Amino acid sequence: MRNIGILLSGRGSNFVAIADSIATGRIPDARVAVVISNKADAPGIAIARQRGLEAQVIVSKGKAREDHDREVAASLKQYGVELVCLAGYMRLLSPWFVQQFPRRILNIHPSLLPAFPGLEAQEQAFAYGVKISGCTVHFVDEELDHGAIIVQKAVQVRDNDNERTLAARILEQEHIAYSEAINIVLDGNFEIVGRQMKNTDSEAP
Ligand code: GRF
Repeated sequence: MRNIGILLSGRGSNFVAIADSIATGRIPDARVAVVISNKADAPGIAIARQRGLEAQVIVSKGKAREDHDREVAASLKQYGVELVCLAGYMRLLSPWFVQQFPRRILNIHPSLLPAFPGLEAQEQAFAYGVKISGCTVHFVDEELDHGAIIVQKAVQVRDNDNERTLAARILEQEHIAYSEAINIVLDGNFEIVGRQMKNTDSEAP
């Protein structure tokens, strides 16, 4: 059984999509070992509790980044987490934390990176006038929205879109992309050459 740890700060729809993929066997042989929020009022943590999952609030406010990260890492290790999934975790990770889980931290970002990193990526894309946007699941390294890319999904921007409708269609793709990326990483049939993730499964297309 592979233990996944989820870090979130808000709504938690990506967490729910991952949990549903596990429940329906799309991510086999895995479980959500713990959900940790840095915010007590995150809707995602309430959902985790409703689902009977281990759910912890480790408040970040007022703490030095690495001090908070050490508490989070201690909890993840206590639950035997081998893969950490950031799912709307609105907090930069310290280099110390990143080094605790080498190539074992994933993030999802609502744009086709390297376009539009940082906050409000969908709004940035809409304002820029791009015709195609999407989402990216990538490894987390010490730089913001920067590590090697695992899965991307493209989403067409329509003439009648606004920021909200575009974000909603990107979110649908996020929910698909995250489970795909988790399977790739847990299966381990890949190598990273430079920034490129290459499939080493001989049966892959
Ligand atoms: C998603 O758009 C994700 O790409 C970004 O934060 C948002 C989190 O949404 N990193 P949710 O909490 O998973 O619903």
